[in-house]
Amino acid sequence: MSSSQKIAVVTGASSGIGAVYADRLARRGYDLLLVARRGERLQNLATKLEQAYGIKAETLVADLEKENDLARLETVLAGNPAIRVLVNNAGIARLSSVAETPVQESLAQIALNITALTRLTHAVLPAFKERNEGAIINIASVLAVHALPVSSVYSGTKAFVLNFSRGLQQELASTDVRVQVVLPAATATDLWDISGVPLAALPQETVMSAEHLVDAALAGFDQGEPVTWPSMADTGLWERYDTARSALFAATQTGQPAPRLLAL
Ligand SMILES: NC(=O)c1ccc[n+]([C@@H]2O[C@H](COP(=O)([O-])OP(=O)(O)OC[C@H]3O[C@@H](n4cnc5c(N)ncnc54)[C@H](OP(=O)(O)O)[C@@H]3O)[C@@H](O)[C@H]2O)c1
Repeated sequence: MSSSQKIAVVTGASSGIGAVYADRLARRGYDLLLVARRGERLQNLATKLEQAYGIKAETLVADLEKENDLARLETVLAGNPAIRVLVNNAGIARLSSVAETPVQESLAQIALNITALTRLTHAVLPAFKERNEGAIINIASVLAVHALPVSSVYSGTKAFVLNFSRGLQQELASTDVRVQVVLPAATATDLWDISGVPLAALPQETVMSAEHLVDAALAGFDQGEPVTWPSMADTGLWERYDTARSALFAATQTGQPAPRLLAL
């Protein structure tokens, strides 16, 4: 994944994982379109990366939970043929029980983590398919396969990202358009303090730096991994999980109630 005059779009580039993706993609020679709400942070990063790597970096200030801003970005994505990479990174977590979470906070997670990611994928896909070139990197989470009492909505949104990406990979199997889904475990970013669970409360040995996370995820990309678990050493675990998942699906294809569920 190296180029010149090709644009990589990174959502949520104003901090954390997205800011590191912006740096690494600029280092690989991509021009950038950096998206988030905090324009000053985006502009500072864009200027820094232009100076460091001699690329061109533009910013687009957008609240991706808002219809107008999302529509504006969709138009840009669909209309610029230089866009070759979309990193669907912007995401939020509100880690609290459903009963104690205002419904608007649950809906905000769904709007950003699911709706925006889906709409931006729709926006780039026709041109990527037409050119038979392009890459979509979707940032999920290890919570895509694990739910905690405080993560029902967040885990649900990330399970969507995993399944959406897996389906897309099959849809695009006969093309050169790549979809990678990345499942980070705890990563040292602002997400935690905003989520309601302070980063300092986590066992520090379980927390990865954002730089290590992105470098590992891009190494997975370069190695052709469709699903990258940056912090997991034993890839056989995922293979066995995925094989069991397939067998579970196959076992449902009976057309009959399971014997234990037959009315007496
Ligand atoms: N940190 C972890 O432990 C961890 C683990 C697994 C997965 N992830 C995932 O990694 C991704 C990046 O998160 P991070 O950890 O880097 O957290 P972060 O530092 O809080 O970054 C989140 C980014 O999303 C942007 N954002 C938030 N709300 C937005 C909105 N309404 N519209 C547009 N942009 C918005 C933020 O920018 P503005 O505030 O400027 O808009 C920021 O740039 C997320 O999808 C997250 O779910 C993180």
